[in-house]
Amino acid sequence: MSPFDLKAWMQVHLDRVEAALSDAIQAESPAALGQAMRYAVLDGGKRLRPLLVLATAEALGDARQSAAALNAACAIELIHAYSLVHDDMPCMDNDVLRRGKPTVHVQFGEAQALLAGDALQTLAFEMLTPQDGSVAASAQATCVALLARASGYQGMAGGQAIDLASVGQRLSEDQLRQMHRLKTGALLLCSVQMGVACVAGLPDAAQTALARFGQALGLAFQVVDDVLDVTADSATLGKTAGKDEAADKPTYVALMGLEAAKAYADDLADQAMQALADTGLPDARLAALRGLTAMVVQRNN
Ligand code: IPE
Ligand code: IPE
Ligand code: MG
Ligand code: MG
Ligand code: MG
Repeated sequence: MSPFDLKAWMQVHLDRVEAALSDAIQAESPAALGQAMRYAVLDGGKRLRPLLVLATAEALGDARQSAAALNAACAIELIHAYSLVHDDMPCMDNDVLRRGKPTVHVQFGEAQALLAGDALQTLAFEMLTPQDGSVAASAQATCVALLARASGYQGMAGGQAIDLASVGQRLSEDQLRQMHRLKTGALLLCSVQMGVACVAGLPDAAQTALARFGQALGLAFQVVDDVLDVTADSATLGKTAGKDEAADKPTYVALMGLEAAKAYADDLADQAMQALADTGLPDARLAALRGLTAMVVQRNN
């Protein structure tokens, strides 16, 4: 059997996601809101969350045929993009660079950035509930429930609140882990869970193992984000490097030092790989998820 070509696999799926996202957001809109939304979403971003949805669904069935999986992939990216638009605003992290471009509020003004974020959030739920009969009502309802919970006060928004409330404070490891699980981990776990929801009939044990995978990967992702803020430059990152220390944010690097944070990310990636093995799925089916896991810890942006 030929080795799995992650790059080729990614390109096929990135093209599908890019086209579907572009179709979903019309530039024609009241007072150019659609233009701000397109600016926030298109032409940038690693698309890790959509790729996780598609890789999970594909591990379990034939996701290429599945409208549900593609819609879920786009929906999670819309929520993520909205979270970035708001995260960058002056009232939050006050960043001017994102995905190698001026941030949305710099380009379009704060009020338009706020509205673009709001509208991206609701568009995500529109995408999960197509009215053309292409996705079963039960899969729609499950994905809506998962995405709403992962995005809200018990998920991403809650984690962001903890982040802002923790500036200048020294959090314990438990507190920091909880903050990272919510602000970043929740959407990554949700990507895996929506991938599962798009394919019926997975045994409970495999679902539990995949949830453990999503949790470990989600935490690893934010630990690496903390590391890259210190080790990478702004041009490579496409966002301003060194912001966490400057803003006195609690991060894994601040808590345990750079080398220990890197080692912890590797450890979490090992845990994620082990959880994949515990699903009992054939190795060939897990290749894309394994490749994405390696990418999360080896990435340089
Ligand atoms: C950045 O996410 C924000 C965090 C949750 C750490 P990504 O690193 O996935 O950003 P893009 O989508 O590739 O720009
Ligand atoms: C943001 O975390 C997580 C979100 C929910 C957007 P960060 O504030 O560390 O993300 P970056 O470093 O600005 O991308
Ligand atoms: Mg932030
Ligand atoms: Mg930020
Ligand atoms: Mg960061």
